[in-house]
Amino acid sequence: MIGILMSSMAFNREAKYFNNKESIFNQYKPLANKYQVDLCMFSYKRIKHQNVVDALVYSCKQDKLVRKSVALPRVNIVRNTRYIVSQELISKLEKLNNQDFHFINLPLLLQLNKMQNHEYLKSHKILRDHLPPTKILSFEHLDSFTRLYGKVIIKPIYGSKGRRITIIEKNQANYLVCQTPSKKYDYTNSGLTKKETFVPHSQIKQFYNETFRNPKSFLVQQWIEFRELNGRPYDIRAVVQKNGKNKWQLTSRVARVANKKGQITNLNQGGEKVSLSELKINKYHRDIRKFCLEIAKSLEKHYSWTAEMGIDLSIDNSNKLWYIETNFCPEKMKWSTIYKIPFEYAYYKYTRL
Ligand SMILES: Nc1ncnc2c1ncn2[C@@H]1O[C@H](COP(=O)(O)OP(=O)(O)OP(=O)(O)O)[C@@H](O)[C@H]1O
Ligand SMILES: [Mg+2]
Repeated sequence: MIGILMSSMAFNREAKYFNNKESIFNQYKPLANKYQVDLCMFSYKRIKHQNVVDALVYSCKQDKLVRKSVALPRVNIVRNTRYIVSQELISKLEKLNNQDFHFINLPLLLQLNKMQNHEYLKSHKILRDHLPPTKILSFEHLDSFTRLYGKVIIKPIYGSKGRRITIIEKNQANYLVCQTPSKKYDYTNSGLTKKETFVPHSQIKQFYNETFRNPKSFLVQQWIEFRELNGRPYDIRAVVQKNGKNKWQLTSRVARVANKKGQITNLNQGGEKVSLSELKINKYHRDIRKFCLEIAKSLEKHYSWTAEMGIDLSIDNSNKLWYIETNFCPEKMKWSTIYKIPFEYAYYKYTRL
């Protein structure tokens, strides 16, 4: 039996609407039948003591879905749409993991730490040169980085969908500072919510002290001039997944172009998705693939339960690839990437227990 672990809300919806064509169950059902393996759908809350789960269980042989209590499956696909923050839940799952229960793609908050991921990747020789120089924020680091690179980006170590980002450019007379809001993007006021100010050299220390009350929760990084499409910088989100052969595979790529008035590409900050074919970068496809697979293999060493990543990268004007960040709850659009590939990987694990 393969477990499908979902949020309580999704589970309750499934319990009611499993018969709907679009239900999660109906997506996994053909896969369960193809591989002749039963399904056990449940939510975190439904893991009871002695590793019993109150679940929706599908039997292939009987072609029937019933609600019942069963033993927690050994291999579970976590439908990872949100990072897990609750320490209580993390401890519970860790305990189970130590008892040889697998939770594929469990997205833990610790994986969101951009500084930590940067350090992990830095130890990889091939990747080192493709990581923008990065340090934990301090005034000294900000000062030395603006001297060295002219322009820097300061962002929260725990990603924030493009919020609370500060871009600082050192000019002869002053610093040009651009900040994204700390609240959600305001679509009715697109691009205008970001703040642009000039700070004289003599006031930069004061500006820093007032803006970054807790500098250790930010990193400062060299600003990379991304390639542009019609004057708008873009980056690329590539999704890599472990497949049924236990191999990393690049399964989707899409570009995101910054808002006309903005400098950053987050969709939450007004960025727009663009198909890669519009960018005319075919000649880089092989390099992008290789780059992403190296990143996945490298991070997998630290997050062994992870079987998919959304890797953000960019190409600069001298055609160099740069790593921006990794997301562990990447958005997927196709049936094969949402259901088939993760299921086949889980089946691989299941048959090798
Ligand atoms: N070093 C850099 N040089 C130029 N632009 C950058 C750089 N780092 C980030 N950006 C831009 O800023 C955006 C946001 O940065 P990043 O993705 O690292 O943080 P975040 O989106 O806030 O985090 P998360 O996606 O985890 O919520 C990127 O999508 C990119 O457009
Ligand atoms: Mg991002």
